[in-house]
Amino acid sequence: MDSKKPSPNNNEPTLREHVYDGIQEYDQKLPNWWLFTLYIAIAWFVVHWLCYYQLGLGSSDTSIIDKAMAEMQQARDKQMESITDEQLWALSRDAAAVEAGKATFMTPGMCVTCHGPDLSGMLSGAKLPGLPLNDQEWKHGGKPTEIFKIVRKGSPDITKGMAAWEQVLGMKRVSEVVAFVLSHHKEGEPITRAADSPPAPATTAPAPAAK
Ligand code: HEC
Repeated sequence: MDSKKPSPNNNEPTLREHVYDGIQEYDQKLPNWWLFTLYIAIAWFVVHWLCYYQLGLGSSDTSIIDKAMAEMQQARDKQMESITDEQLWALSRDAAAVEAGKATFMTPGMCVTCHGPDLSGMLSGAKLPGLPLNDQEWKHGGKPTEIFKIVRKGSPDITKGMAAWEQVLGMKRVSEVVAFVLSHHKEGEPITRAADSPPAPATTAPAPAAK
């Protein structure tokens, strides 16, 4: 097979002399736009590799999402800080919330351990450490917001064993577990204070936030 001689003419594609299996290669200059893109890409790789992987500048997708999720959670928690008695009563009539609260309550090691599966503070005739939650007597106040507060923040007397559950469960699950407790009660039922209740706040003004 006779091979084309390399053409000195610039308009004609130049062929390399080398032939293999009857195939010859063009010897052409790459177009500038192509080269430009390649060099930009190489430069970008260096910058990106340095900033992103070596210097830790810029955040990964996961950390961006984690941050956004945490902000949303915070906003929701903030909203729940100002939940009212009416809203908690409404939640106690929401079957899905009550069911979720029940699951939390009944988890071994959780509320059920101290307050009993029927919320009576008793188990097969024996007194458990927790107070009954199914009667009308409340040591720390029987208004839904008061129950919400004691479950969130725990007993003011930490030696009693009622922990602050907000850190463990988060606000949503605390509200659900309170909805479950409230589902054993009726709105407007008489509430009494226990004999060993801490003194009631003098006014109905909300107590200063604990945190
Ligand atoms: C380790 C045992 C224990 C666990 C677990 C526990 N509690 Fe308690 N709880 C107590 C004790 C003890 C008290 C009484 C605190 C006091 O005397 O100040 C109490 C008090 C309460 C009160 C206030 C009752 C009143 O009369 O004012 C509520 C409401 C309550 N707990 C709900 C819960 C919920 C909901 C959970 C699960 C998220 C839970 N508790 C988990 C021991 C426990």
